Amino acid sequence: MHQIITTEDGSVTLYIPELNEHYHSIHGAIQESQHIFIAAALDYFLDTYPEAISTAHPLHILEAGFGTGLNAWLTLIRATERQIPICYHTIEKYPLANSELEALNYTDYKSLGDNHLFHQLHECSWETEHVFTPHFKFCKHKEDFQHIDFPPQFDIVYFDAFNPNVQPHLWSTEVFERFYKAMKTNGILTTYCVKGIVKQALRTVGFSIKRLPGPPGKRQMLRATKTSSI
Ligand SMILES: C[S@@+](CC[C@H](N)C(=O)[O-])C[C@H]1O[C@@H](n2cnc3c(N)ncnc32)[C@H](O)[C@@H]1O
Repeated sequence: MHQIITTEDGSVTLYIPELNEHYHSIHGAIQESQHIFIAAALDYFLDTYPEAISTAHPLHILEAGFGTGLNAWLTLIRATERQIPICYHTIEKYPLANSELEALNYTDYKSLGDNHLFHQLHECSWETEHVFTPHFKFCKHKEDFQHIDFPPQFDIVYFDAFNPNVQPHLWSTEVFERFYKAMKTNGILTTYCVKGIVKQALRTVGFSIKRLPGPPGKRQMLRATKTSSI
């Protein structure tokens, strides 16, 4: 059973005692997600390629690790704020229990006014595309990262697996190859982890990588770009 922990920005996260691992940074769950995925991936992509996204060509995002739904929730809010159409796919092998979801307080800190949509992210059916708002379509895949097989359709990957100390096999060239293949040319992947083995695996697969300042409590993060179509 996961424990509920309040992080330094007041938002909660989950702790898994058996793995000694948190779902988010203890220095601020919302702050971390906002910094690594919303600012360094979503906002960066939209500001770098302002012509790329339109009603006919929505932004496609793939998330590795749905977990608490925090990244999906912040993305839904950002899609509304920026009036950008987003098609969001997320992968999760171990969905949380309802009792764990009840403790999450993300709608207290970042609200759309229509907070039942946060609960809908968890309650909606798997493997089906759901239209949440005029700017946000959403599909959950109950799948292992190691087995994903998507055609190259994604502009952005939020890579949010547990730390490689805990799950090294999820940060391997074999897994990154699957995400690389799922991405369009110029697509970007962001992650909180800057470990040498992670950078090496990303480079081996063909990404060019850049270290960026990290969120509060973390010196650096990574943004990887798929620069070639292969
Ligand atoms: C660091 S947590 C992040 C979760 C989420 N992004 C959030 O904001 O709550 C990692 C997530 O990856 C999921 N996970 C772990 N191993 C997996 C696997 N082999 N395939 C798919 N999901 C996995 C976990 O259940 C967990 O939800």
